[in-house]
Amino acid sequence: MFRGSIPVPHEKTMDFTELIKAIPKAELHLHIEGTLEPELMLQLAERNDIRIPYDSVEEIRKAYEFTDLQSFLDIYYAGAGVLQTRQDFYDLTYAYLERAAADNVRHVEIFFDPQTHTERGIPFDVVLDGISSALNVGEAQLGITFRLILCFLRHLSAADAMATLDEAIPHKARLHAVGLDSSEVGHPPAKFTRVFDRAREAGLLTVAHAGEEGPPEYIREALDLLKVRRIDHGVRCLEDPALVERLVNEQIPLTVCPLSNVKLRVFDTLEQHNLAKLLDAGLCVTVNSDDPAYFGGYIGENFLQVQQALRLDVESLQTLARNAFTASFLSRAEIERHIDAVDAVFDSA
Ligand code: ADE
Ligand code: ZN
Repeated sequence: MFRGSIPVPHEKTMDFTELIKAIPKAELHLHIEGTLEPELMLQLAERNDIRIPYDSVEEIRKAYEFTDLQSFLDIYYAGAGVLQTRQDFYDLTYAYLERAAADNVRHVEIFFDPQTHTERGIPFDVVLDGISSALNVGEAQLGITFRLILCFLRHLSAADAMATLDEAIPHKARLHAVGLDSSEVGHPPAKFTRVFDRAREAGLLTVAHAGEEGPPEYIREALDLLKVRRIDHGVRCLEDPALVERLVNEQIPLTVCPLSNVKLRVFDTLEQHNLAKLLDAGLCVTVNSDDPAYFGGYIGENFLQVQQALRLDVESLQTLARNAFTASFLSRAEIERHIDAVDAVFDSA
């Protein structure tokens, strides 16, 4: 007998929490200094006998109210002051990898900002040795593969960036790409054209933050002058339809960071985030965590909150998960292997 039950759409019964947890993930936009949790900050301050203006984890978390990118960067660079030794950079990086493993991250392409540390007298190789040894141990013990991306601080001069590149080139076997971060507005990609030319001549790939707070023109400059393979953030591209068309045609990935964008007031709420529009436009969008210790969530939390806020369907999640590997600097064969693993999770969902 027909019981007349109303068919429940698949999407409504889907357990997104379980699905998102199960997705094999790649993280392509992660500042290692932005994974410094308040607990570790306090521990390192004590270990290194450094005074910080906070006495407790709660006090630190309370300070994380930002009005824009700069208000965050001021606190973020101050927090990084507790990082002093190779062991500190190792501990920071390994702690991140353990969190990433819990989110089923299989591959990471992480940023580090050497100038934040060399400016304070910490030698470049102390920073690089600590981070890269943790990445190697993480690959062996947690099975997370990696690429390391050196970012230049764009609020500093091009000459300073060039000197940093000079210091980095002898270590280039451990680096895969260079990037550009920090205060965007007033520091266009064009300022770093020669630095990025030299990095590419040395065999490094290039990426850049652009179109986070800065205008679409900065995205064009990053493409034309810095010859980037990916745009970090890029959310303001929607203001320029011709640019969107180009990004779609060239399939230039955007490493979007939803929770970061809300914390830094690029969007007032997650419901207002343009990620679904970016996907609808045919852009190669990926989901990432940026500075998770400061923005309230690692990659799994970014996926979950943005899915809920924008009511993303299963197909969109699958596209986002696949895009992360397609947009990575892994080999074709490795990308295909990871995409097969992504598809297997969705096939059995
Ligand atoms: N450095 C760390 N996080 C950043 C962001 N979201 N934008 C620019 N520079 C950064
Ligand atoms: Zn970033």
